[in-house]
Amino acid sequence: MAMNYGSDKKSAVQAKFDAQKIAFAPVMFQATRALRDLDILKCVNEAPEGITIAEVARQLELQEYGVKVLLEAGLSLELVRVENDRFFLTKTGWHILNDALTRVNMDFTNDVNYLGMFYLTESVKTGKPEGLKVFGDWNTVYEGLSELPHTAMKSWFAFDHYYSDQAFPEVIPILFRNKPAHILDVGGNTGKFALKCVEYDPHVNVTILDLPGQLRKAEENIKNAGSEKRIDLYPIDLLDHSRPIPGNPDAIWMSQFLDCFSQKDILELLRRSKESMHRGSELFILETYWDKQKYEASTYCLHATSLYFTNIANGCSQMYHSDDLLNLIKRSGLKVQEIIENIGISHTLIICKTQQ
Ligand SMILES: C[S@@+](CC[C@H](N)C(=O)[O-])C[C@H]1O[C@@H](n2cnc3c(N)ncnc32)[C@H](O)[C@@H]1O
Repeated sequence: MAMNYGSDKKSAVQAKFDAQKIAFAPVMFQATRALRDLDILKCVNEAPEGITIAEVARQLELQEYGVKVLLEAGLSLELVRVENDRFFLTKTGWHILNDALTRVNMDFTNDVNYLGMFYLTESVKTGKPEGLKVFGDWNTVYEGLSELPHTAMKSWFAFDHYYSDQAFPEVIPILFRNKPAHILDVGGNTGKFALKCVEYDPHVNVTILDLPGQLRKAEENIKNAGSEKRIDLYPIDLLDHSRPIPGNPDAIWMSQFLDCFSQKDILELLRRSKESMHRGSELFILETYWDKQKYEASTYCLHATSLYFTNIANGCSQMYHSDDLLNLIKRSGLKVQEIIENIGISHTLIICKTQQ
C-alpha cells in the first residue's frame, strides 16, 4: 500500500510561526527542562491565586533574572499564563510537571539523545549512529547499554520499560492461549517479561536470547526472584545470521525488538525464527507502528524516536510503518494469523505461524 499522511492547509502566518517553533526548539526544550527541574512549575502549580516572579525567586532561592527569563519563555511555550503579574500553570504545564509519559520522553530526549543529535546529519550520510560517540566507542547502543553513563542508562531503561510494561498485562493472556511449554524471549533484556511469564504459568519455561551484557543484568534479576530453574539465558549476537535460533520453541516472543534492526536484518531474523519453529509454534511480534496510532501525539513521538535509532542506536533501524513489517513477514514465508491493535499505549501484536 502507498504511504499517505499529513496535509498542508494551515495559513501562511501559522506556517511561519510553526517554522520558528522548530528554529528555536532545542532552546525552548532546555527552558522547559529548567522550569521543571528548578521546581519553578511546581511552585506556580502550588499557588492557586497565582504567583509573581519575585515570589518564585524568593521561595526557590533563585535570582529574579533567571526566573523572569524562564517564566517569560514559559508564556510562549504556553506552560504558564500571566494575569496582573501573577503566573498560573496551564494544562500543558501540568503535563510537563506531572504526566509520566511526558517525563519519560523528555528525560530520554535529554539524557540519551540531546548531545548526540548534533551529529544526525552525519549519521544520515554514513548510515552509522554517529551520535553514539558522545557515550563511547561502540558500533551500536546495544553493545554499550550496560556501560552507558548512569543517567543515560536510567533514562534509556525508563523509556523502554514505560512502553512495554503497559502492554505486558494485556499480552500475557494472549501469549498463553495455546499453553506454550517453552517460550523464547528474543531480546529479553533485563528478564522482566520472562519473570512475568513464569509467574503467570507454573509450568512454562523461558529462554532469554540477548547480548551477553544485557544477560548479566537479567541473571541477577532472575536469581533475586528465585526463578533460575525455569528461565535459561542464551547469550547471542543475533546479527550473526549464521547462528540458528535455538530450536523447537512453542512460542517466540519479540517485544520492541525488531525495531532495533534494518529491514535486511529483520528479514534474516524472521527466516531464522521460522527455521526454529515447529508446526504449532507461534511467533508474537509486539511493536509500535507509526501508522497505527490513535493519537497524532503518538505518531509524533514515534517519528522522533526513529531518529534516535538513526543517530544513537545503530544508524539503520526505526519505528516502522506496519506495511514495512507485513512485507518482511510475507517475504520470510511466515503467515500472519492475527493482528491485535491498540494494546497498551500504542502497540500492535502480530501473531505468525509457519503455515496457515
Ligand atoms: C528495545 S529492547 C526491548 C526489550 C524488551 N523486549 C522490552 O520489550 O522491553 C531491545 C533488546 O534487543 C536486544 N538486542 C539488540 N541487538 C541485539 C543483538 N544484535 N543480539 C541480541 N540482542 C540484541 C537489546 O540488547 C535489548 O535487550
